[in-house]
Amino acid sequence: MRQFMYVFLFSFVHVLSESDFAKFDGAPPSKIAVVGAGIGGTATAHFLRQHFGPEVRIDVFEKNSVGGRLATVSVNNQEYESGGSIIHSLNLHMQDFIQQLGLKYRKSVAGKTAVFNGEEFILEETDWYLLDLFRLWWRYGISFIRLQMWVEEIMEKFMRIYKYQAHGYAFSSVEELLHSLGGSGFINMTRRSLSESLLELGVSQRFIDEIISPIMRVNYGQNISIPAFVGAVSLAGAQANLWAVEGGNKLVCSRLLKLAKANLIQSQVTSIELRSMGDYPQYEITHSSQDKKTSEVYDIIVVATPLQQNVDTGISFQGFEPDLPEMPGSYHQTVASIIHGYLNCSYFGYPDPKLFPFSSILTTDASELFFNSAASICPVNITSGFRRKQPQEAGVYKVFSPKPLEKNELKTLFKSYYSVQVTDWLAYPHYGSTQGLPPVVLHDGMYYLNGIEWAASAMEMSSVAAKNIALLAYHRWNRQLEMIDQKDLMHKVKTEL
Ligand SMILES: Cc1cc2nc3c(=O)[nH]c(=O)nc-3n(C[C@H](O)[C@H](O)[C@H](O)COP(=O)(O)OP(=O)(O)OC[C@H]3O[C@@H](n4cnc5c(N)ncnc54)[C@H](O)[C@@H]3O)c2cc1C
Ligand SMILES: *[C@@H]1O[C@H](CO)[C@@H](O)[C@H](O)[C@H]1NC(C)=O
Ligand SMILES: *[C@@H]1O[C@H](CO)[C@@H](O)[C@H](O)[C@H]1NC(C)=O
Ligand SMILES: *[C@@H]1O[C@H](CO)[C@@H](O)[C@H](O)[C@H]1NC(C)=O
Ligand SMILES: *[C@@H]1O[C@H](CO)[C@@H](O)[C@H](O)[C@H]1NC(C)=O
Repeated sequence: MRQFMYVFLFSFVHVLSESDFAKFDGAPPSKIAVVGAGIGGTATAHFLRQHFGPEVRIDVFEKNSVGGRLATVSVNNQEYESGGSIIHSLNLHMQDFIQQLGLKYRKSVAGKTAVFNGEEFILEETDWYLLDLFRLWWRYGISFIRLQMWVEEIMEKFMRIYKYQAHGYAFSSVEELLHSLGGSGFINMTRRSLSESLLELGVSQRFIDEIISPIMRVNYGQNISIPAFVGAVSLAGAQANLWAVEGGNKLVCSRLLKLAKANLIQSQVTSIELRSMGDYPQYEITHSSQDKKTSEVYDIIVVATPLQQNVDTGISFQGFEPDLPEMPGSYHQTVASIIHGYLNCSYFGYPDPKLFPFSSILTTDASELFFNSAASICPVNITSGFRRKQPQEAGVYKVFSPKPLEKNELKTLFKSYYSVQVTDWLAYPHYGSTQGLPPVVLHDGMYYLNGIEWAASAMEMSSVAAKNIALLAYHRWNRQLEMIDQKDLMHKVKTEL
């Protein structure tokens, strides 16, 4: 046996431990449940199908709409993104989904951005990229280059995850995953504030206040005290090469469910109860729709919705000894208002709207403004003749704010409007409301996807977590422990074929 393993080890084929042989003719799981049909849950169903094969039944529970925080609202028969909207060109899982699902890219329509401090624009994008670079250089000196190099280095390390996952490696915690990508430096970045990290890097306070802080406000509705890791993800998303899904990002979710041949059960999971212990425990899910309660037993469960108390998923965990710990921290409120109307350009210092050149307005922190950002937005289906509305025309705008806009606030931002549609999101973690990262393994066969959001919340992060959990569940079921939390993966994937 020992010699046998030795041979395996040095030919770099997956090493098997003794228990694997006992398990080899063991049965595969017969039923798997995923709770939540956002991008996290639907991607998990897809990856579970890939790894566990065609026989296992996969049920996906959704109490609301498929897509979760990917959603659209309709204005004049056109749909607009109200939740997660932007995808980075290096988000490889999202790219893969688009291709496998036969969906199309929706490129962003050009438009200029400016930063508003409550009184005036302090930074304005021009037509000429070189001029912008020159201005940035003039205003902030070396900060801009330092920042770019910092973000690029982090992205490069983060991209290792795709290689590790392609080789089948899984991680039993968010810490292990981050550590394998960027060592203790990555873990530290989830604990230190962005501002501290950037100041240490030599980025100027002015640059932080005038550029970094507005980006954090538009992406996460929070200030520069958020952890450096999510800050870096957010800054990567502020670079060029962004896209979205034609027809709406939520299409990825519904199509993934179909591709996975998963059963969508439109029902709210109210309890998950441990039914039998032993090597392969089982769990009973009780769910309720239209006052009808139904229960069913599963071998593996993936919880793909935030479990923080203020999110109020309505799931109670029963029969676990000791009780499952409550998830500390809370989710951050961000309100997305989709407004059809005339922007009040006077408010921004442009009495003549014809001269107003910007399509996106970011804001600084100092101003204590009632909104985080305001932008003219494009529908999810763009026809070939599409052009952005000019500021003197009625257009569709998205305003992010920490609270629902009051009538007088709407009347400050808009000269007049036809409609306002409000989506009040618990959008992403309220960073800093807890220290440490939530667990991935809740019990032998029960997993939690959304802990990854405390490192950074984005569609791609949920997709990375989905692939990880599918691999983790598969290896744990088959007792292939050498595929979990392996050290020195950089070296291993280089030498494996
Ligand atoms: C306003 C806003 C802007 C954003 N912008 C971006 C962006 O530009 N780019 C980006 O990458 N990300 C962005 N994000 C973040 C991104 O949308 C999320 O990280 C991602 O969509 C989370 O997906 P998820 O599947 O993990 O969770 P969710 O989408 O929240 O899915 C969880 C699902 O579980 C369901 N559920 C909950 N409890 C139960 C229950 N008891 N029974 C059954 N079902 C249940 C919920 O109804 C929900 O559908 C943004 C988010 C918001 C809100
Ligand atoms: C991360 O923090 C720990 C503890 O403070 C420290 O020992 C380690 O050197 C840090 N890692 C990096 C890469 O800075
Ligand atoms: C950032 O916001 C938090 C509350 O969310 C607050 O406690 C903190 O003081 C703010 N930091 C700065 C630098 O404004
Ligand atoms: C929008 O785009 C999606 C995806 O390409 C397509 O399925 C849908 O029919 C389009 N809708 C309209 C109204 O054109
Ligand atoms: C528009 O902004 C100006 C300048 O701040 C303000 O006086 C006015 O009341 C705002 N609203 C309308 C409807 O013009």
